[in-house]
Amino acid sequence: MARACFLISLAVASCLVWKAHSFALSAKLVHRFSDEARAAAASRIGGGGGERWPTRRSKEYYQMLARSDLLRRKRRLGARYQMLFPSEGSETLSLGNDFGWLHYTWINIGTPNVSFLVALDAGSDLLWIPCDCIQCAPLSGYHGSLDKNLSMYSPAESRTSRYLSCNHELCSLGSTCGSAKQPCPYRINYYSENTSSSGLLVEDILHLATSEDHASVQASVIIGCGRKQSGDYLDGIAPDGLLGLGFGDISVPSSLARTGLIRNSFSLCFRDDDSGRILFGDRGLPTQQSTPFVPLDGKYDTYVIAVESFCMGSSCPGKTSFHALIDSGSSFTFLPNDIYKRVTLEFDRQVNVSKRATNNESPWEYCYEASPLGMPGLPKVKLIFGGNKSFMVINPIYPFFNTEGELAVFCLALQSSQESLGTIGQNFMTGYHLVFDRENLKLRWSRSDCHHDLDNSRRMPLGSPPRNRPENPLPTNEQHSFPNNARAISPAVAGRALPANSSSVSQGLNAWYCLLLLLTQLAVFAIG
Ligand SMILES: *[C@@H]1O[C@H](CO)[C@@H](O)[C@H](O)[C@H]1NC(C)=O
Ligand SMILES: *[C@@H]1O[C@H](CO)[C@@H](O)[C@H](O)[C@H]1NC(C)=O
Ligand SMILES: *[C@@H]1O[C@H](CO)[C@@H](O)[C@H](O)[C@H]1NC(C)=O
Ligand SMILES: *[C@@H]1O[C@H](CO)[C@@H](O)[C@H](O)[C@H]1NC(C)=O
Ligand SMILES: *[C@@H]1O[C@H](CO)[C@@H](O)[C@H](O)[C@H]1NC(C)=O
Ligand SMILES: *[C@@H]1O[C@H](CO)[C@@H](O)[C@H](O)[C@H]1NC(C)=O
Repeated sequence: MARACFLISLAVASCLVWKAHSFALSAKLVHRFSDEARAAAASRIGGGGGERWPTRRSKEYYQMLARSDLLRRKRRLGARYQMLFPSEGSETLSLGNDFGWLHYTWINIGTPNVSFLVALDAGSDLLWIPCDCIQCAPLSGYHGSLDKNLSMYSPAESRTSRYLSCNHELCSLGSTCGSAKQPCPYRINYYSENTSSSGLLVEDILHLATSEDHASVQASVIIGCGRKQSGDYLDGIAPDGLLGLGFGDISVPSSLARTGLIRNSFSLCFRDDDSGRILFGDRGLPTQQSTPFVPLDGKYDTYVIAVESFCMGSSCPGKTSFHALIDSGSSFTFLPNDIYKRVTLEFDRQVNVSKRATNNESPWEYCYEASPLGMPGLPKVKLIFGGNKSFMVINPIYPFFNTEGELAVFCLALQSSQESLGTIGQNFMTGYHLVFDRENLKLRWSRSDCHHDLDNSRRMPLGSPPRNRPENPLPTNEQHSFPNNARAISPAVAGRALPANSSSVSQGLNAWYCLLLLLTQLAVFAIG
């Protein structure tokens, strides 16, 4: 218990990546829109043709990729599968404190296959797993909460593994290699301070299953053999690896789409009982709403959307537009400071509670004492996007229970950030089926229990033209599928929850988190 609580005070997980996007290129494997190919084309046609090449990761770049992917798919009669999920199942799970409060899924890698429980992170690209460890998080000590032991990978023990060489087009550190044939090293620094993973890039089999008949599919993907982790990764945030779901060419969704296995899309769905689903190739329901991803500095590096206004009840305070990262690697939601102030003041004005909680040591500022009558009326929290598309946050508050298990305090689970870019974390995603439609550069969403609407019957047909589909809100019967239950346990806690100046706060937080840990685990047991 003491160890568990200690871990939580260190749990600062956000996986937005600081990394260079310039890839080293080989003579043999040149990406068709790479700078090198552009230069080569320019010289071929007398220097005039270079501008026809889109800037890497610009909108035009993705449109061109999509167009040529479409041609390739037409030749091949479409993507091979409608949807794929990890061979162990599409379910995701959150085990609370033991695992940094994020969502995880089991994946199988290699031949013979080995299972890894990887954290889901839409904020970064690489899939890495603990491998031939020099410095990795301990893999034991989780027996209570898991039905399998965590494993380490070793390329030498997999017949299908192959080191990527330094001259591979996806070897971004290729220029640092002594020779082109050496195994390609990688290093990724994550948003959390001093948090990184490094090692060697390997290609191996990821075992998947089809949604149609659960037939097994083996996909070749690039994996970081994570020999050395630091920072939060040593504190148990992702002891068994991280599944980067980002735009980068190296990510698993990118590999699967590039090889024509699926359409270029994936979905995440998180329930408020801490379970969820991940589906590769999923394009969601025809009725879902959508908003475009927006480029940062002209590039689509991460999933960023433009929020036009942030509403509390019927009031939408002015000047609340901002850009936000959709980051499944962050448990909670952060707003740029000025937006945060306007929004929280409005919430505070509307919430029907007389008493702000005092002596409160949660990471959140706006906390209230619960009345014995239970949850008071709360204003509906809504994000409005372009075209008047709205996204209602299903559970914006985080409840704290006393030792008798009664609701004691609840907080608006929003934090301010010094950055101008907000972060939509897992808590705001809960209750929604979120489709990362990379093909059309759109985030799509619909209310979901992550179960009934994820079968095949009502899905978008594979061949439908991507752009002209209706985007009506879901029928109202789906609006009632979530119990409006004050006792519902919120999604994963912590994430990037602790601000930079957290050392003094974290001592006091332990008491809260230990209580939460107990409750969350109880909930998990009750469901399982
Ligand atoms: C993984 O290996 C086990 C045996 O070690 C086997 O039963 C299982 O079918 C394999 N799974 C896949 C997806 O190949
Ligand atoms: C997990 O590891 C423990 C100790 O290393 C061992 O006793 C147990 O049998 C293992 N469990 C499984 C499911 O392999
Ligand atoms: C990060 O590393 C630097 C240099 O080793 C150290 O001074 C700093 O305290 C570390 N920060 C954290 C949060 O551990
Ligand atoms: C707060 O109470 C007032 C009066 O009872 C009511 O009109 C209002 O809708 C309540 N606010 C919320 C957010 O439930
Ligand atoms: C946006 O939609 C809401 C209802 O969904 C409506 O009340 C409002 O008038 C609309 N606003 C605009 C600008 O269309
Ligand atoms: C952190 O908090 C301490 C007091 O709790 C304060 O003196 C210090 O200035 C704060 N540091 C930052 C970086 O906010």
